Amino acid sequence: MTATRKVGPFDVFPIGLGCMSLSHAYGPPPPREQAERVLKGALDAGYNFFDTAAFYGLGHNETLVGEVLGDRRNDFVLASKCGLSRGDQRELNGSPEVLKATCEDSLRRLKTDVIDLYYLHRWDKRIPIEESVGALADLVREGKIRTIGLSEVSAPTLRRAHATHPIAALQTEYSPWTRNPEIAVLEACRELGVTFVAFSPVGRGFLAGGVMDASALAEGDFRVGMPRFQGEAFAANLNLLSQFKAIADDAGCTLAQLCLAWLMQKDPTIVSIPGTTSPDHMLENALAARVTLSAAVMARIETTVNGSTVTGPRYAPAMQASVDTED
Ligand SMILES: NC(=O)c1ccc[n+]([C@@H]2O[C@H](COP(=O)([O-])OP(=O)(O)OC[C@H]3O[C@@H](n4cnc5c(N)ncnc54)[C@H](OP(=O)(O)O)[C@@H]3O)[C@@H](O)[C@H]2O)c1
Repeated sequence: MTATRKVGPFDVFPIGLGCMSLSHAYGPPPPREQAERVLKGALDAGYNFFDTAAFYGLGHNETLVGEVLGDRRNDFVLASKCGLSRGDQRELNGSPEVLKATCEDSLRRLKTDVIDLYYLHRWDKRIPIEESVGALADLVREGKIRTIGLSEVSAPTLRRAHATHPIAALQTEYSPWTRNPEIAVLEACRELGVTFVAFSPVGRGFLAGGVMDASALAEGDFRVGMPRFQGEAFAANLNLLSQFKAIADDAGCTLAQLCLAWLMQKDPTIVSIPGTTSPDHMLENALAARVTLSAAVMARIETTVNGSTVTGPRYAPAMQASVDTED
């Protein structure tokens, strides 16, 4: 049996389920019946850490999770996020009033009395981080959320927040092709005892071999606007992917499993949250917890796919402006 990992006081399977693409991000959401198979199947397969947000589908994703999993609420650790929407509008807003109102909406949509882990989705730099985290600390005291998380923040911001109220988890993008947390955030998490949650762990599908033709991406797919999926950068990255595939073949696992096993072995405390609309991919990803990579394979991944060998930044400038990271 796979050892669990800690998120605050909770013990979770080291691979959680990212629910975002069941509502938005990578083209049209899947049919409801398919989304239900992913969510219910995940619980049956051993996933017990589900990641959603008020922002995903502007309420659609939380409603979906609440409707499909609400009657099994005690069987999993529920994480959601606030701060990127106001009511049913997209809006970066970290003011205490908006965060508290969003939490009420989240609770109602998720059909629960308490959210286990509630993240500030982005730091709204107009508001001191202490004020936004202070609002979340009020929600802890009121029993509406159990623990607090942060998303896409730098190590100094994490330290300021943690001094206001203990932070249980920090989530940001981490995979072989996005190494930004290695600059400072991972170290700060280790030092403070904050669980690092790796989002987009299979490189938004690219490192899982799910995007072999960028021109086939649907209209409205976020990846269309991402530099690594464009033009010559995409072609160069495909070349890198073939080298990554050779490592997966030698290791006897799939590409997605290579990413997830790499994350598990990089640090014994990291939890990853791959997202999928496919019941088969969901099962394949869970099986990554059984994959053990040799030291030689780990070393090959380090030298083959890293910040210097990948072509293009992870975000376009407008998106980059909304994150508080060292990159
Ligand atoms: N805090 C934040 O700002 C933030 C940002 C992004 C994401 N997140 C969280 O992190 C979660 C995961 O991130 P993500 O969805 O952006 O990226 P990801 O997990 O790296 O990639 C998701 C993509 O990979 C494909 N995929 C997954 N498993 C696969 C497999 N075994 N084989 C082939 N393709 C596979 C999926 O396609 P299929 O649907 O076809 O499987 C999907 O298009 C999200 O659901 C969300 O909860 C948080």
